[in-house]
Amino acid sequence: MQTKNPNILGIFQQKGGVGKSLVSSIIAEYASIKANMNVLIVDLDMQCNSSDYWVGMESSPQSTGGQLPPIHPDWIEGDEDYEGIEQRSTIADTFYGKEILAYETFVNPKNGFKGKVDCLLGHPALLEKINTEFSNESGNIEAKVINRLKEVLFNEFVGGEYDLVVLDTGPSRNPVFRSAIRCATHAVIPFEPEEKSMQGINAMIQVIQSDNFSRDDDEQLKLIGLVPNKVKISTKLHKGTLDMLHESLSSIMIPRDLYLPNSVAFPERDLKGIDPKSIFQISKHHTALKHSESLCKYLLGEIFSEKELNSKLAK
Ligand SMILES: Nc1ncnc2c1ncn2[C@@H]1O[C@H](COP(=O)(O)OP(=O)(O)OP(=O)(O)O)[C@@H](O)[C@H]1O
Ligand SMILES: [Mg+2]
Repeated sequence: MQTKNPNILGIFQQKGGVGKSLVSSIIAEYASIKANMNVLIVDLDMQCNSSDYWVGMESSPQSTGGQLPPIHPDWIEGDEDYEGIEQRSTIADTFYGKEILAYETFVNPKNGFKGKVDCLLGHPALLEKINTEFSNESGNIEAKVINRLKEVLFNEFVGGEYDLVVLDTGPSRNPVFRSAIRCATHAVIPFEPEEKSMQGINAMIQVIQSDNFSRDDDEQLKLIGLVPNKVKISTKLHKGTLDMLHESLSSIMIPRDLYLPNSVAFPERDLKGIDPKSIFQISKHHTALKHSESLCKYLLGEIFSEKELNSKLAK
């Protein structure tokens, strides 16, 4: 039986703070809460913002990055099912050839959702170790790191269980970032319509193009487009910058009316214990919700066929 390849959406931008983690969470929430899909989010950034948002990291002042992933709630010492799996199981273990366990998040059927979001957590110290241990010169970087994520995420288990995998990446082009580029099937590049944030765009386009040279024609990484974030549409600067981009980069800009506005509703979701947590659970009339909905519907429409998406939405 032929298994379907997974849909893996990578969120890439080497500029920090432009909304990679935000866009990855919004799309995961839309896909699971509105489109009833099963989503796997993978935190490949050693800052672990996604892990903290989705599952919660433990404070650990002595550890690198000051945080540790929590012990997996299902993990049982000595149980043969968990043999060889770390009790704080993270995506970092995969680069050491170990098996990994995803964590459940607040979006799951027990909480009344039809879809779910599971998360493969990051590990600040281990991800940093991988990025420093494997330099470009070391001979086995391709096999051990760059191709490794693809091997794991393309396996039957992931392809069968999840409709969509979302990769949140960090703001530098290290080996773990390169593994994400290698395995993504689709990509978006978030940016703020300001000079400093846009400087990273060309570099990201080049990285995607260069990976596509090594791919077969039917396995090309599809750049869905540049996603404007933190947009203050009433300002001359933002409106002018977006107009300019729609003219000069029209083939890779998403449609003109799609962007995420600058809104406190987004950072509010990071507050611990906030309820409702998802932007898709707040008032239908909220601007942040309306923009998030239109944007995500468009992005999923670039990944799934119209028929597939409509049948998920109608579930
Ligand atoms: N549209 C928005 N309106 C208001 N605040 C936003 C918006 N988008 C992102 N933010 C806030 O800006 C900060 C940076 O966003 P985010 O963490 O998503 O960026 P990032 O690209 O993942 O950063 P890093 O490169 O550090 O991983 C966060 O505090 C986030 O809540
Ligand atoms: Mg981030």
